[in-house]
Amino acid sequence: MKTIITIMLLSLSINYNMVGQTEKGCTAPGCHYKLVSAAFIHPAAEDDCTSCHESETVEHPSENGNDFSLVDESPELCYTCHDDKEPDASQKSIHPPFEEDCLNCHNPHSSNNKFILEDPVPDLCFSCHDDPGEIKNVKTIHGAMFVGGKCINCHSPHSSKNRKLLKEEDPALCLKCHNKEIKYEDKVIPNIAIKIVNEDLAHPPVVDDGCLTCHNPHSSVNNYLLNDTFPEGHYAQKFDDNYSLCFDCHDDSKILNKKTTTATEFRNGNTNLHFVHVNREKSRSCTNCHDVHGSANKHLIETEIKFGSWTMKLNYKPTKNGGSCLPGCHEQRSYSR
Ligand code: HEC
Ligand code: HEC
Ligand code: HEC
Ligand code: HEC
Ligand code: HEC
Ligand code: HEC
Ligand code: HEC
Ligand code: HEC
Ligand code: HEC
Repeated sequence: MKTIITIMLLSLSINYNMVGQTEKGCTAPGCHYKLVSAAFIHPAAEDDCTSCHESETVEHPSENGNDFSLVDESPELCYTCHDDKEPDASQKSIHPPFEEDCLNCHNPHSSNNKFILEDPVPDLCFSCHDDPGEIKNVKTIHGAMFVGGKCINCHSPHSSKNRKLLKEEDPALCLKCHNKEIKYEDKVIPNIAIKIVNEDLAHPPVVDDGCLTCHNPHSSVNNYLLNDTFPEGHYAQKFDDNYSLCFDCHDDSKILNKKTTTATEFRNGNTNLHFVHVNREKSRSCTNCHDVHGSANKHLIETEIKFGSWTMKLNYKPTKNGGSCLPGCHEQRSYSR
């Protein structure tokens, strides 16, 4: 009995030693040490090489090489432990390189990039996609691609229950950052969510159709990431094609017709006050009076606007047949239709 136990213990300790030696052997200096020496190590590779590699030969290293084969090919190999990554029918979009081979982006052993990535985001993405900042004549590039997780702020690299690998649908996607004032370099971007809380007073396309109706999420040849032209700041040189964005939906006769009784409600008798303010050499932009996202007042009229550090109140009061305002630009004026 005693001898049997001794033999069992002995063989156990021999087995133990063999495993220990094999492990140490694989990653010993001069062998495969480098594979697992980068800053971020795949726990699986730290644990046991044989969970992915199986020996074909008794001798290793052998003369003809090919001593090991993979237990399975990626991505199936990876699903054995990461079964939550197996694409399923609930996903509306699946990233082709994710379905094809995890090694398109990940190193199986170790890497100097977080999440054992072959390259950091966004360089990783640019190895297959164009850099949206490198479009010809690009005027605005979205800061969302440079902060936090960069591309991963909005996209899953793997798969998503939303279209285009988006983590959330527009406008929720945009409002998770634009629900507060954002200070970025020398800019202060106002809180957009707060403007549209009262949906009845918001600009209908913002709440009905979403932010992407007017904005590109990455970059644009226009100001403010817009899909069409709109001036930056308070003024434009002439009316011309400077406000095309608005006239993708609205009729431009409300600005073009000097005299009208139909094109706009913003008129004094038949004098078109839109024409007076906008259709001139130094054109007053719509944002001198309107907030294009939403406002606490009727007709999207602003409560106050900023000129540098000076805040000007508009004091707009609608009446049954017109309205009045008392801005810093001129004394109280009223219009009546
Ligand atoms: C999570 C699975 C996994 C684990 C664990 C793993 N490997 Fe690998 N290994 C791979 C895959 C997949 C490849 C093929 C890589 C390719 O085709 O680019 C590979 C390739 C290799 C290669 C071939 C050359 C190279 O540099 O890519 C060597 C050598 C190697 N592994 C050694 C090891 C050693 C030693 C360990 C343990 C420290 C280990 N592997 C642990 C998955 C794994
Ligand atoms: C033997 C089990 C096993 C296999 C096979 C395996 N992994 Fe892992 N992997 C783990 C464990 C354990 C962790 C750490 C816990 C976690 O994040 O789930 C991990 C974590 C990761 C991480 C996150 C690393 C981090 O820094 O957060 C990535 C990426 C990853 N694995 C990719 C892969 C890829 C690609 C393959 C296939 C080549 C693969 N894994 C195969 C066990 C495995
Ligand atoms: C197109 C590139 C790409 C491909 C292909 C890819 N990944 Fe990833 N993976 C990433 C990026 C980027 C991250 C980091 C995500 C983050 O920052 O939140 C990541 C994170 C992970 C993580 C850790 C965080 C998490 O989501 O659990 C695991 C595990 C992982 N990947 C496993 C896999 C597996 C398994 C496959 C193949 C079925 C795979 N990846 C294919 C790019 C990729
Ligand atoms: C190995 C190549 C490769 C890498 C790396 C890669 N992609 Fe892709 N991606 C593709 C291919 C192929 C498609 C499908 C064709 C297309 O839309 O260009 C695609 C499509 C997409 C789509 C559109 C999905 C849809 O449903 O239409 C998004 C979004 C995307 N990738 C984001 C990313 C992001 C973010 C990264 C970096 C984390 C990345 N990709 C890295 C190859 C890649
Ligand atoms: C602010 C959120 C946001 C960020 C950050 C972001 N994207 Fe997107 N991306 C989107 C949205 C929204 C779409 C869908 C646009 C549409 O088709 O309406 C999209 C679409 C895409 C597409 C598909 C293009 C097509 O025409 O089908 C690719 C590829 C893509 N993004 C890659 C990237 C890469 C690479 C990065 C990082 C450099 C990145 N995205 C960062 C929001 C974002
Ligand atoms: C991860 C946070 C984040 C998300 C998500 C995000 N943004 Fe932004 N956005 C920023 C930051 C930071 C800035 C300031 C830098 C800049 O001006 O680009 C900004 C600026 C902007 C600007 C002003 C750009 C300019 O040049 O004046 C617009 C317009 C904008 N975002 C629209 C959107 C839209 C539309 C979405 C949804 C598709 C969105 N944002 C989602 C962070 C975000
Ligand atoms: C009807 C078109 C339209 C829609 C829809 C729209 N925007 Fe805008 N957005 C504009 C215009 C025009 C500007 C430039 C004038 C301004 O700053 O108000 C702008 C400017 C911005 C700015 C920059 C503000 C600044 O002063 O720098 C941000 C941020 C922004 N939009 C976010 C959003 C978000 C988030 C949504 C969705 C909830 C959205 N926009 C929907 C037209 C639109
Ligand atoms: C995607 C279509 C679309 C775009 C682009 C658009 N609008 Fe509108 N706008 C609407 C709709 C729909 C209404 C509600 C019906 C109406 O009054 O015509 C509206 C209403 C308005 C109102 C009137 C609100 C009221 O209660 O009287 C103003 C002011 C306005 N828009 C300004 C603008 C400005 C300024 C721009 C350009 C920056 C613009 N819109 C771009 C679709 C759009
Ligand atoms: C000087 C202030 C001012 C400027 C600048 C201005 N608007 Fe207006 N707008 C108003 C007022 C006030 C109303 C409300 C008229 C009413 O119903 O009594 C109005 C109404 C509107 C309406 C509702 C329909 C109508 O015409 O009555 C739209 C749409 C509109 N404006 C679009 C624009 C666009 C687009 C621009 C820039 C190209 C612009 N506005 C510039 C003051 C202005």
